[in-house]
Amino acid sequence: MSKIHIVSNRLPLSIKKEDDSFNLSPSVGGLATGMRSIYKEYGGKWIGWPGLSKDDLTDDELLTIDEKLVSEDCLAVHLTSEEINLYYEGFSNNVIWPLFHYFAQFIDYNPEYWEAYQKVNHKFAQKALEIVEDGDIVWIHDYQLLLVPEMIKSVKPNVTIGFFLHIPFPSFEVFRILPWRNELIKGMLGADLIGFHTYDYERHFFSSVRRLLGYEISFNEIHLEDRIILADAFPMGIDYEKFETKAKAIAHKSLQERSELHRELEKYFLVSPDRKLILSIDRLDYTKGIPNRLNAFEKFLNKYPEFRNKVSLIMLVVPSRDEVEQYKLLKSEVDELVGRINGQYGGVNYTPVWYFYRSLPFDNLIELYSTSDVALITPVRDGMNLVAKEYIASRINQSGVLIISEMAGAVKEMGEAIIINPNNEEEIADSIHQALTMEMEEQRRRMRYLQDRIRRYDVFKWSGEFIKSLKKVEDIQQNFLAK
Ligand code: G6P
Repeated sequence: MSKIHIVSNRLPLSIKKEDDSFNLSPSVGGLATGMRSIYKEYGGKWIGWPGLSKDDLTDDELLTIDEKLVSEDCLAVHLTSEEINLYYEGFSNNVIWPLFHYFAQFIDYNPEYWEAYQKVNHKFAQKALEIVEDGDIVWIHDYQLLLVPEMIKSVKPNVTIGFFLHIPFPSFEVFRILPWRNELIKGMLGADLIGFHTYDYERHFFSSVRRLLGYEISFNEIHLEDRIILADAFPMGIDYEKFETKAKAIAHKSLQERSELHRELEKYFLVSPDRKLILSIDRLDYTKGIPNRLNAFEKFLNKYPEFRNKVSLIMLVVPSRDEVEQYKLLKSEVDELVGRINGQYGGVNYTPVWYFYRSLPFDNLIELYSTSDVALITPVRDGMNLVAKEYIASRINQSGVLIISEMAGAVKEMGEAIIINPNNEEEIADSIHQALTMEMEEQRRRMRYLQDRIRRYDVFKWSGEFIKSLKKVEDIQQNFLAK
């Protein structure tokens, strides 16, 4: 049987040094969950960066890590501090990330970044080539590795390659800005199947392929001289059952069994039966529209004074890429905005914004989802946004309202949510009011539709459909060659 191998920038587990040993803990992120079942079932390996700098480790430590990873069917691509700086923080997060999210003004066109990106992509490809055999499938993930498909295909044409982009693909007019645009597209075209979250991203990709390389495209097939490539939309889902089951388990816990956070949340509601909670969860990233959200919440308190002292925004912000300049600037901006709102509207018994700058364990996340009346998701650009789906899955009694930005990929599956333009703070303020005053019957009616849809297309369905299409593309290829 052919094997399925996964290649992504990060491995599906995190490694921490404690005393003199290294502990591995599995990631709970969407990609790790969706893929774990696939590569284990098909006897493959997962290739990725363990998240540490090679320069901080001795040769013996590197060996220990490699051995531990082998027992998890993982292979490490070790990166030096310079590579992390130029490839990960540099080209991946200072060039591609801002460009693909329409923040062209943040791009640093540093040729050293581009050099490092090519070299490190080559390192990942080499690692994969050490184990991949003819007839195997390799599934490569995300913007950090756009060149890897071609690097593998050119050496092993009989390996079937899938590539999935987890962030938006921008319109041609934005993509063309990049000096290295042709190289990136050619890198992606090494794949046999290219997946996007939405049909719009796929369309943007096609127009770049046509305009830059002149290839013929019919329906969702790209015709090269010697082969056919398929592109399609596969909206990524979550492990729905896991969220629902945990939410049910938490609901059945007695007061004493609940976490400290959960008990604090309950105390907040005890003060008055009119109290409500609005929730937001994201990585600290300028694409997530955190300042817009805070400004809109401030507008809401200003415009609807009857809700002051009754409604709080609980904002969980997970630290991310904190070595990159734009992320540091955003951190100060958010700190300042939260201070301003709490200073203006807060009181002894009332904190308008509860701000957590850290990550929280899974159980606490579910407690936040379960106790919040509204989820406020306001990215200015977002490939998908799984938080919206997690909120829906955790609402076991079907109450709760989702407000979501029209710029998130997830909105395509969320017709029953309140949809806002993240740059329209007035509209967000009014949508908060609409959500807080929505009749329970209406909340339940909308939530049922959302739940049915998100439950059906979960992360296992997502990965299963992608693999199915990869097998289909193998047949298309054979028919094409037989002609
Ligand atoms: C996004 C990207 C992922 C990335 C994640 C966390 O979801 O699409 O590829 O892993 O952010 O970012 P980090 O830079 O910490 O890996």
